[in-house]
Amino acid sequence: MATLKTSILGIEFENPFLLASAPPTASIESIDKAFEMGWGGAVLKTITPDDLEMIEASPRYATIKEQGKVICLQNIELLSHETVQYWVEGIKYLKEKYPSKVIIASIMAPVERKEWQNLVKTLNETPIDAYELNFSCPHGMPERNIGMAIGTSAEISILITSWVKAVATKPVFVKLTPNVTDITWVAKAVERAGADGFAAINTVQSFMGINLDTLEPVLNIDGYSTYGGLSGSAVKPIGFKCVAQLRQSSELPILGMGGISSWEDAAQYILLGSDAVQVCTEVMINGYGIIKGLKAGLLNYLESKGFNSISELKNIAVKKITSHEKLNKKNHLYPSIDKEKCVTCGKCVKICSESEYHALRIDNKSLDLNKEACAGCSLCSHVCPKEAIKMSC
Ligand SMILES: Cc1cc2nc3c(=O)[nH]c(=O)nc-3n(C[C@H](O)[C@H](O)[C@H](O)COP(=O)(O)O)c2cc1C
Repeated sequence: MATLKTSILGIEFENPFLLASAPPTASIESIDKAFEMGWGGAVLKTITPDDLEMIEASPRYATIKEQGKVICLQNIELLSHETVQYWVEGIKYLKEKYPSKVIIASIMAPVERKEWQNLVKTLNETPIDAYELNFSCPHGMPERNIGMAIGTSAEISILITSWVKAVATKPVFVKLTPNVTDITWVAKAVERAGADGFAAINTVQSFMGINLDTLEPVLNIDGYSTYGGLSGSAVKPIGFKCVAQLRQSSELPILGMGGISSWEDAAQYILLGSDAVQVCTEVMINGYGIIKGLKAGLLNYLESKGFNSISELKNIAVKKITSHEKLNKKNHLYPSIDKEKCVTCGKCVKICSESEYHALRIDNKSLDLNKEACAGCSLCSHVCPKEAIKMSC
């Protein structure tokens, strides 16, 4: 019998699905509800020293939708508005009510040893399971030299990780930013400074565009805007890349996230090296209830593939990512055309001839391939509106 139970750094998880640090974990009442519904744990909305001012802009969200479905969300939200004392009491309440749920305290403070260590010393007195150092918020905070300003500097990341490690009584995960050339650069630095694990990714810095009627930003705050953090399905390939790169360069545990909206996404994060996963945007859009499908889907998948646990699934696919240089260049696939499905719309012919090659043409209402001219690139199969083209040997 397969199980979703897993263990990371000695912390027992009843399932690998955690709520990411974000609005769904911004209050004790909300987390209480989420735990009731079956989430394995929660990373608290980032806690800061009480005197760090958090004044929000309104509105603070923008989205891009496709056929009514949100494919990405941009936010310019700041950190927790609650006091440290609120969280201290709330953590105790939650742990008493749900001893088997994992609670991770996400924290951020100005770059001063005392500020970070005071926060940690206070939270050490609570029954949290781990810390997550937020070195990665891409908006608002970098202007104050924190958030992503920390996570884009190996030196500052090392400094803070070692301050925290010097006093933390629980494992320390570092939440990394994807807004760097190479995520492993800071990851290796914080690993050397004693980090116990990684969380990735935080949001991707972005700008949502300009309203062509008003000539003002789409995310419009009194005529102005700022760069924000992108999340949701659209950032999933960036999250996959970052997690795989982290796994290829380190054996530390990884809490993978970015665009998870289904059990299939979660399974892929695990195959690429995640020990557990976090979800934010999908919960913001569809509510805590998605946990039922996530758990059932992943468990079914494990069973159908003959795996007993998350750890058996972990890392399998990361071995399949190599350098371009090492890819087998001897294989040449060709489009195979399903004449029943093809409506000879000509879309593939047009893109083939306008994207360098001239391998497809329509003759007598029949789509035909000139193998000699085909580069095997596969673009035709991606643009076919009828899915009539598959690539094969
Ligand atoms: C509105 C909003 C607020 C967020 N606030 C925080 C935060 O306080 N601390 C943090 O570490 N990450 C924060 N995040 C980032 C998420 O935890 C997560 O890393 C990111 O959204 C990618 O996951 P997703 O695609 O499942 O949303 C926030 C994300 C959103 C959308």
